[in-house]
Amino acid sequence: MSARQHSIGGLNSVRHILQRANARPFRGGSKIAPSGDKTTKQSRRIFTAEDARMLARRRLPRLVFDFVDGAAGREIAAAKNISAFDEIELQPRVMQDVSSRNLRTTFLGSEYDCPVGIAPMGMCDLIWHGADRMLARASNRFNAPLCLSSAASCLIEDMLSWTEGRAWFQLYVGQSMDHTLDMVERAKTAGYETLVLTVDVPQVSRRVRDLRNGFEMPFRIGPRQFLDFAAHPKWSLTTLVNGAPSAKNFPTDRGNSGFDRGASRAGADWAFLNRLRDLWPGRLVIKGVTSVADAKRIQSCGADAIYVSNHGGRQLDSAPAAIKLLPAIRTALGPDYPLIFDSGIRSGEDVVKALAFGADFVMLGRPLLFAIGAEGERGLNSLFSIFTEEISLTLAQLGLTRPGEISRDVLINPPASLTEKSTQLHITKSIKRA
Ligand code: FNR
Repeated sequence: MSARQHSIGGLNSVRHILQRANARPFRGGSKIAPSGDKTTKQSRRIFTAEDARMLARRRLPRLVFDFVDGAAGREIAAAKNISAFDEIELQPRVMQDVSSRNLRTTFLGSEYDCPVGIAPMGMCDLIWHGADRMLARASNRFNAPLCLSSAASCLIEDMLSWTEGRAWFQLYVGQSMDHTLDMVERAKTAGYETLVLTVDVPQVSRRVRDLRNGFEMPFRIGPRQFLDFAAHPKWSLTTLVNGAPSAKNFPTDRGNSGFDRGASRAGADWAFLNRLRDLWPGRLVIKGVTSVADAKRIQSCGADAIYVSNHGGRQLDSAPAAIKLLPAIRTALGPDYPLIFDSGIRSGEDVVKALAFGADFVMLGRPLLFAIGAEGERGLNSLFSIFTEEISLTLAQLGLTRPGEISRDVLINPPASLTEKSTQLHITKSIKRA
C-alpha cells in the first residue's frame, strides 16, 4: 500500500469515528424526523428555486441579495448558464417499471443519498445568521457533501465536526502563501479527506451590483447602506445581535485585517498545483475548469477529480455557459475520470441533464442561499427535498431507476463531442455504470 493510500485510509477512519460520535436518529432525507423538530419543517411557499429567489429578494437587504445573485460585468454569462439548460431536451420513455427508484451514488470513495452536494460559498452567514450550521444540518439530513469555502463564516474544524465528516474543504491561494499553507495543514489535521483548489479567480472580477451597492467586507455603513438595512429590520436586528459575519479562517490579529476580498488569488498556478499534490495526501479536486487543454494537464498532474464550473458567471462575463463545455471535457478525460459540475443548476431536471452531459456529481449554489434567505432552515429543507424529488421524478419520465443509468441516450440532439468522437467512450461508460 502506498503512503498516500495509507493516509486516505487514516482519514477514512477519522470520518467514521466522527460519524459514530455524532450519530443522529435520522439521516438521508427520506426517513421520518421527530415531530416538532424545527429543522425538518417544510415551506409552504417554496416550490421552485425561483420561488426561493423571489422570496429572498423581498426579505434580504438589497446589498446582501445582490452579493449572491450578482455576477461579473453585464451578467451575460450568469444568464447563459441558466438558459443553456432550457435548450437541452430529454427524451421521455414509456412502459418501463420505474416504480422503485434509488438515487444513491458512490463518488470519490463515499456513498451519498443523491448525486448532489453543496457548492463552496463564502460568507454564508451574511445571508442569515446561522446559515453555515443550517447547511451543515442539510448535509447530514440529505447525506450530501458540503464544500466549505476558504472564506467561510465558520471555522474549518467546526464544519467537519458539524457534518459528521462529510465536508470537503475549498482552498483559495490568497493574500499570503503562509496563510494558505496553514489552512491546508489545518484541514489535514482536522481530518478532511477532500481538498478542492479553486483556480478560476486569479483576481475577483468587477461585480457591478456590488460596486453600485458599496458592498465591502467589513461593512461600510454609509447613508445608502443604512436605508437598505433599515428597510429590512429583521435581517438587520438578527445580524446586529449576533455580530456581523466575517471570514473566520483569516487571522485578524497582529495588525492583519483579515480576509482581503480584492487580493490576487493568482498563486494557484501549475507550480502550486504540483506542490499541493505532494502536500495533500487525500483527494485533490481542481475547481473552475472549462478548457479541455487545462483539464488534460490537471489530470496529468495527478488531481483526483475536476470540477467544471465558470463560478456561476461571477468571473468572466464573456465565458460560454459552463454546461456547454462539459461534454468535450468528458470526452477528453475518458469515461472513468471523476467530474463534478456546477453553474446554472436550478432544478432536478438540470441535474439529470448535467449527468447526461458527462458529470458524475453536481453541486448546488445560489438556490440554497436563496432558500435560506427566504425562509431559513425550513426553506433550505424544502428546496433540497424538491431537488431530490425532481431528480427521482425525472428518472421515472426517462424510464430509468438509478442515476447510473443516465447516458447521452436520454438527450435529444446530444452535443457533437458526446456523439461523433466519443461513441466508444460512451458505450464503455454505460457498460461500467450498468
Ligand atoms: C460563490 N462561489 C465560490 N466558489 C468558490 O470556489 N469559493 C468561494 O468562496 C465561493 N464563494 C461564492 C459566494 C457566493 C455568494 C456565490 C453565489 C458563489 C461559486 C460557487 O461555488 C459556484 O461555483 C456557483 O455558485 C455556481 O453557480 P450557480 O449555480 O450558483 O449559479
